[in-house]
Order: sequence, then structure tokens, then C-alpha cells
Amino acid sequence: MTQRRRITVVTGASRGIGAETARQLAAAGDHVIVNYREKRRRAETVVAEIAAAGGSGETLGADIADPAAVAAMIATIGARHGRLDTLVLNASGGLERGAAVDYAMTLNRDAQVHLVRTALPLLGDGTRIIFITSHQAHFHGRKPVPADYEPIARSKRAGEDALRAMIPELSARGIALRIVSGDMIDGTIIVRLLERRDPDAVAVRRGQAALPTIAEFAAEVVAACRTDTESGHTTYVGGPDYLRGSVPREADTGAASVSG
Ligand SMILES: NC(=O)c1ccc[n+]([C@@H]2O[C@H](COP(=O)([O-])OP(=O)(O)OC[C@H]3O[C@@H](n4cnc5c(N)ncnc54)[C@H](OP(=O)(O)O)[C@@H]3O)[C@@H](O)[C@H]2O)c1
Repeated sequence: MTQRRRITVVTGASRGIGAETARQLAAAGDHVIVNYREKRRRAETVVAEIAAAGGSGETLGADIADPAAVAAMIATIGARHGRLDTLVLNASGGLERGAAVDYAMTLNRDAQVHLVRTALPLLGDGTRIIFITSHQAHFHGRKPVPADYEPIARSKRAGEDALRAMIPELSARGIALRIVSGDMIDGTIIVRLLERRDPDAVAVRRGQAALPTIAEFAAEVVAACRTDTESGHTTYVGGPDYLRGSVPREADTGAASVSG
């Protein structure tokens, strides 16, 4: 008997970490829904790559900060598949040109919680939600953050806290929440831009330890989608200096593991 494919959404999967996570999850057997905001062509290329490698996927555009678009995306998934097995919360942003001053909080906290709430009817017993974050955000308030990244770090930490606060409600439905937090990820557009603007900032990180690659980080997201750890578990990828002498926050329930 062939095993049925898990139905998995990766938000913001038209490029970078989300795209690679989608490719790796599809290679592991999932049917991957490649969500994007506006870069449809790029998302279609990701799905074409998945298909060429023998996997299964589809694109589904939705600005996750737009409640109507989220409702339409979840309704489409419900109509096509009837369920959702894994929700990977990867899409992030906040410094877009012309964005409202509170856009980072709208996208990185409110939209994440809203998407989870909207998806709840499709998420049954044994399903998983993975929240992807950065060490600068996860350790916000405990480790220094560059001034221009502050609104992102603050809002992503607020998003993580808001999702963690949902753990009792999620657990009652058999849904596990996992967090995957990474150091700067080599090869991403953000790190390439930063390297151009402030080479020393990246050099300092490289001096601490090799930066994880996009493929290595995505592999840890795939592992978080697969392994059975308790809800609230955090996987740390790279940046061992962040972890030295760091006392976990009270909110960070669940064990942690370190990779890279
Ligand atoms: N880059 C790093 O060094 C690093 C380190 C640690 C953790 N992370 C985390 O990893 C994740 C991905 O980072 P990345 O560097 O790969 O990001 P990225 O290259 O900036 O890509 C962002 C993706 O999110 C999508 N997106 C943005 N706003 C959206 C919205 N409102 N609705 C739906 N999709 C939206 C974009 O879609 P469109 O292209 O269609 O606009 C794009 O596919 C983030 O959560 C980030 O915090 C990154």
C-alpha cells in the first residue's frame, strides 16, 4: 500500500529558505503548497523543480498579511485536499519600502497567528506547525540587535511568543508547534545585501563559526517537520556564541537542540 503524501504549506516559498525547504520537503514525499506574495513566476519555477525531481507540489499565492487572501488560500486547500498536515511559517518581512510603520508587527506577529487560527479546521491530530525565526529575533532583549533590524527582531519575537501562548489550545487538538531558529544564513539575499552594506557585521559572525547554508537550515526545518519532539521545542542552527551563557526565557517551554 502506498503511503499518502502529507499536505504541507510553506509560506514565502518563492525564494531563499522557503523555496529550499519546499524542495526538500517534496523530496521527502510531501505534497508541497508553495505560497508566495507576488513572485508567481519564481514560485512556479520552484514547483517545476519539484516536479522535475519526481515530487509533487502546487503554487498558491496569498499575502499572508491580508485576511481575505488567507481565508481564500485555506478554503482552496480545504477544497482540494480536505486537510493540512504541516504548516511551515516561513514568510517574514517588515522593512519593505513604503510599508506602514507597524507593518513588521502586522506580518510577523498578527498575520502568523491569524493564519494559524484560519488553518485550525484543517489541522487535525498529529499535525505540525513550524515557526521559522532568526537568533537575532529569538534572543531579542537578551542579545544586541543592529538598529535597522530591531523592528523585525522585536516583531518576530512577539510572533513567537504569541504562537507559544497558543500551545495549550494547539495541544488539545493534537497539533505540535516547533521553532527553528538560525544564525545568519549564508547565500540568502538578506545576508548578501548586509555583506555589501556592512561587511564587518558578517565577518564578525563568520569569525564565530561557519554560517549555516540555506540547504543546511532547510534540512533542520524538514527534521522539525518529521521528528517527534514535544510542542515548543526549539532547534538552534548555527551561532553557538548565542547559546553560551544564555538563560532560556520562561516563555520558551519545551526542550531545545543544537545543530551546526
Ligand atoms: N536570511 C537569513 O539569514 C535568516 C536567518 C535566520 C532566519 N531566517 C528566517 O527565514 C525565513 C526566510 O528568510 P529568507 O531570508 O529566505 O527570506 P526572503 O529571501 O526575504 O524571502 C521572503 C519570502 O517571503 C515571502 N513573503 C514576504 N512577505 C509575504 C507576505 N506578506 N505573504 C506571503 N509571503 C510573503 C516572499 O514572497 P515574494 O517573493 O512573492 O514577495 C519570499 O518568498 C524568515 O522567517 C527569516 O526570518 C532568515
